[in-house]
Amino acid sequence: MLPENPSEEIMSLAPWRSPLGKALHLNRSLANVKYLQLATVRSNGHPANRTVVWRGFREDTNELKLITDFRSQKIADIYENPWGEACWYFSRTREQFRLHGKLLLITEETADEALQTLRVQTWKDLSLGARAQFSWAEPGLPRDFHKPFRMELPTPEEILPDFCLLLFDPIAVDHLQLRGDPQFRTKYDRSPGGKWNTIAVNP
Ligand SMILES: Cc1cc2nc3c(=O)[nH]c(=O)nc-3n(C[C@H](O)[C@H](O)[C@H](O)COP(=O)(O)O)c2cc1C
Repeated sequence: MLPENPSEEIMSLAPWRSPLGKALHLNRSLANVKYLQLATVRSNGHPANRTVVWRGFREDTNELKLITDFRSQKIADIYENPWGEACWYFSRTREQFRLHGKLLLITEETADEALQTLRVQTWKDLSLGARAQFSWAEPGLPRDFHKPFRMELPTPEEILPDFCLLLFDPIAVDHLQLRGDPQFRTKYDRSPGGKWNTIAVNP
């Protein structure tokens, strides 16, 4: 039965969450299980791709939590074009998830209280090493080996201004399982009303 309010559909777990959760569980012993590749589009129309760490899902949503530095190149990409695609390969179970959707950047300037609270909480949850990276010299600039690189280590309470939370909200997911002969491939698409459609397609 369709929900009366389409947004209820978004609040419930998307159908791809179950196979993704299973993959995360079955591959949990791998050191790189939380690393995925996130592609964006540069302002000149060229693609850009990089590895990021999945930091869990935003509560009661299907949005992936990622973090990044405000000074990094991808910020300009996202401001200009919020569309992104993530590719996540699980080597133990030999399956790939491609997630296509919109990126929402939450910076120091974000006025929405709930989002700002989430940014602060995500900062607090980081390891010391992960927090320290936001005190490093500006990413991408020529390195000055004469200058000390490490600043004082930031504490969980002292959120550094360049720390950004990035929410990635998929509208389409393509799941390919190499195990099986023939292989399995499932596509999930979210309609503008929020309802997910699932279809098995040829691999
Ligand atoms: C294993 C691994 C994990 C990474 N995790 C992140 C991350 O969570 N966030 C991030 O912004 N960059 C992360 N990076 C660095 C990015 O891959 C990239 O080099 C950096 O963000 C600059 O990208 P940009 O110039 O496209 O903005 C990670 C790199 C590796 C190799």
